[in-house]
Amino acid sequence: MEKLIEVKNLTLTYPGASEPTLKSLNLDINRGEIITVIGKSGCGKSTLLNTMAGYIPPTAGEVLLNGEVITGPDWKLGVVFQNNALYPWLNVADNIGFGLKMRHFDKAEIQSRVDTLLDQVQLTDKKDDYVFELSGGMRQRVAIARALANQPQVVMFDESFGALDEFTRNDIHKVILDLWKSLHLTFFIITHDIDEAIKLGNRIAIMTPDKGLPMKVVDNPYFNISSEDIDANYMNYKNDILKQII
Ligand SMILES: Nc1ncnc2c1ncn2[C@@H]1O[C@H](COP(=O)(O)OP(=O)(O)OP(=O)(O)O)[C@@H](O)[C@H]1O
Ligand SMILES: [Mg+2]
Repeated sequence: MEKLIEVKNLTLTYPGASEPTLKSLNLDINRGEIITVIGKSGCGKSTLLNTMAGYIPPTAGEVLLNGEVITGPDWKLGVVFQNNALYPWLNVADNIGFGLKMRHFDKAEIQSRVDTLLDQVQLTDKKDDYVFELSGGMRQRVAIARALANQPQVVMFDESFGALDEFTRNDIHKVILDLWKSLHLTFFIITHDIDEAIKLGNRIAIMTPDKGLPMKVVDNPYFNISSEDIDANYMNYKNDILKQII
């Protein structure tokens, strides 16, 4: 398997903090996989994502993308947060194309990418609406399309679906998995919901607050499970993961 991202001995100590938030953390992400990340609140999940996205420079160690050190924000690294700051004065299509406009892509290319993405996130009929007119789930789909417009090599999600109701979340899970299948993407998805981690992850990374322990990554036989297939074995697997988080 080809490594897309390598987190190598990553240490991050926030200015003024006495202890590092991340201590010598190692993690490999393979091209084309979905890795979900689960761990207690405050264990450093967002810190890890922000460092991988180039927003925070590591105190020690490094993060590589295709073998090259990530030194700052880069369009190759897409990020979707829970409260995506979409531009309220722009309509859906212009929100999705905004980054490409900033990168001086020509109009025809922007329009073609935006139209394709609108179709993929099923928002073609909303393309002229302002984002404040949309439901939370639709806004999340705009945010996903906006991240994908740059054709990034990896898309990272930080608790992106946590505020959505269960039905909307299930719809978004389907959108995510369909995009992953059709576009052969690599996703890094942080969640505090274990069922979501199991549904979406080819592998699951478990972060513990015990700094200095290697990050545990487990294979997931229940990837893309449908709710009617949940059985006692699934519950055992889930409980096993729960035990490792606490
Ligand atoms: N900008 C910052 N400056 C100083 N300390 C920070 C900063 N951001 C996070 N921290 C600290 O780093 C630790 C990890 O925070 P982080 O947000 O990465 O955790 P998390 O696992 O994402 O938590 P949650 O599940 O609640 O989102 C916490 O103790 C937090 O207080
Ligand atoms: Mg967080």
